[in-house]
Parts: sequence; structure tokens; C-alpha cells
Amino acid sequence: EKGGFDHFMLKEIHEQPKAYRDTMLGRIDASGRKVVLPGLKLTDDKIRSINSIHVVACGTAYHAGLVGGTAIEQLVRVPVAFDVASEYRYRSPLITPETLVIVVSQSGETADTLAALREAQANGAHVLAVTNVVGSSIARDADDVIATLAGPEIAVASTKAYTSQLIAFYLLALYMAQVRGTKSPEEVAHVIAAMQSLPEQVESMLANTDAIKTYAEQIAKHEHLFFIGRGLDYAVVQEGSLKLKEISYIHSEAYAAGELKHGTLALIEEGIPVIALATQDSVLEKTVSNIKEVKARGADVMAITHEEHVAGLLRSVDQAFAIPQTLPLLTPALSVVPLQLLAYYASLERGNDVDKPRNLAKSVTVE
Ligand code: F6R
Repeated sequence: EKGGFDHFMLKEIHEQPKAYRDTMLGRIDASGRKVVLPGLKLTDDKIRSINSIHVVACGTAYHAGLVGGTAIEQLVRVPVAFDVASEYRYRSPLITPETLVIVVSQSGETADTLAALREAQANGAHVLAVTNVVGSSIARDADDVIATLAGPEIAVASTKAYTSQLIAFYLLALYMAQVRGTKSPEEVAHVIAAMQSLPEQVESMLANTDAIKTYAEQIAKHEHLFFIGRGLDYAVVQEGSLKLKEISYIHSEAYAAGELKHGTLALIEEGIPVIALATQDSVLEKTVSNIKEVKARGADVMAITHEEHVAGLLRSVDQAFAIPQTLPLLTPALSVVPLQLLAYYASLERGNDVDKPRNLAKSVTVE
């Protein structure tokens, strides 16, 4: 049942290339230059009338929403707000018929997310669900569904559901950009081409995991560590930190790299591991400055970056791990993979029950 893998989590990490391909299947036209979303009820007129978007979800799905909503804001130029579902309806969010509410849920049964969906509909919003279970409560009640085709996810720690959610969001963002004309057909085609390379790029990372495994064994000895990043890297480290906490029980914080010096830098002391995700070229120099701040206080820094930046970064960090090159917007679909593996191998090293971490359930049906 685990297909030769020791754990469902590792199996599901390895199923990601297939999950990416399946989630793209039938949603890119024959020319390979245009996104098509068969069955979408959101009309072009409706897409043109939207003036705000709320992305609402819990846990890992929320983290996928952070990346996905950012992609929409960048490509479609509509303001996007992000909420964890357990907070959303209690802050009386401003919801109008021109609001598109996107709920994200692997299981489609998360109680808080379902309640947020109902609140949004009661206020006249169109609710689009990104979900992995088409017969779920959330899929049934939503006005629209974009299914992720990750296949069943058994491990409590979500991996392939997260990355398939990213793919679904990229497709939605491109689709809306086509309708609103915020990206030219050439720009759309360029992003699609890069998306189509992602599965093979993930395969190449999964073929060579020794460095991450060795590093995981090193961090497994620690009780606290930090992840830092800027922009989309910050969104991805939030997921990496959650994954690590969830199955290795190592305490970690994910920090916006530029925010550290406003207080948390006080916690950086000799030997503390800091994992710096530094893939976003536009803020790379700034991230390097922040890396130097923690290095100066004795942190042991591991950087994850594109191959071309490894040599440069090695002047400021203790070790570096390279991921394949892609567009900055798509990088999360690659950069999260070493973080998933890091959590997996750290959990293994600590002798934990990887697939069934303590205190957690796969589907959270209580508020
Ligand atoms: C973490 C994890 C949880 C879920 C969260 C939402 O690995 O799996 O954080 O992401 O409970 O679940 P869904 O997506 O089913 O709504």
C-alpha cells in the first residue's frame, strides 16, 4: 500500500510530479499557450467585476493560499486578503457581491473553512473552492470548484495536496489574467511553459536527497530553529516550519527576514540553525543582509537557493542547497520540496511516528 516506501508521507512526496501533471491535465489548451477551466461557473463578466479577493483556509492549505493569492495579485492586479478560517468570520470581513472568496481545503471537510464559506455566501460573495475531494461538503456547497488531482493523501502531514493547490492557483491566476487582459498571450504562454517543466524538475530534486537527509540529521539534535525568507520565500518557509513542527516536534519559527531585527534577533545565539530560503532575485541582496545579521550573532545558516546563486551565497552561509531554476512566481512549487524532506528526515531521525504525529488528525471537523 505504501508502494515500496517506508511511509505514506515519503510516498506522497514522490507522487508530486504526477500530482502536478494530473492537476494541469485538460486545463491547458492544445496549443500549450492558454489556460482553460472546463466547468467553471465564474463567467468572464463576473471575473471582470471582481474588485477584491479573500483567500481563506487552515494550516497547510492556508500556506498554499498565501502563495496562490500572491500569484493572483501579481498577475491579475486585484487586491487579495488572506485569513485563517478560524479568524475570518469573527472579524466581520468586508464581503460584497464583487468579492471572490477562495477557500482551500484538501479534505473539503474542515469545519472552520466550511463555516467561512457559508459566511461568504450569506454576504453575496461567489465562493470558489480549491479542494482535493470532489464529493466533500466544501465542494458541494461552493459555487465553483477547482479540483486538485493529487489523489488520496493518507499521511497527516500534507505534501502533495499543498503543491497541487499551488498548481490550481497558478492556473486560476493565469485564467483570470487572460480574461481581464492583465497579461499578454505571450506572457501567459511563458508561464505555462515554465509550469510544464515543474514535474521533471521535482523528479530531479527527488533523485538526489542525500544532502537534505544529512542536514536533517544535524538539525534533529536541536530544540529550536528559525526559517527566514522574503516575499514568496516567506510564504514557503511558513509551510516548512509547520511541517517540521508537526512531525519532528522541533520548535521553529518562520520569519520575514527583514522583520527579525525588530525583536526576534534577540533569540539568535551561537549555533542556532537558521534556514534561509533565498530564491527571489528581486530581494536576494536584502535577504543576504539579513543572513549576515544572524551570522554575526553565531547562527549556523543553511541557504536554499538557485544553482546560480550558490557560489555567491556560500560567502555568507555555512552550507547551501540548490534547487532548479524557474520563474520567481513558480519557485514555491520547487522550494517546498527540500523543506518537506527536511521535516520527514528529521522526524525519522528522532524516531517519531512520521505518518501519525501526536495530537493531530487528518481531517479537523471541529471548530
Ligand atoms: C498540515 C496539515 C493541516 C491541514 C489543515 C487543513 O500538514 O495537514 O494543517 O492543512 O488541517 O486541512 P484541509 O486542507 O483538509 O482543510
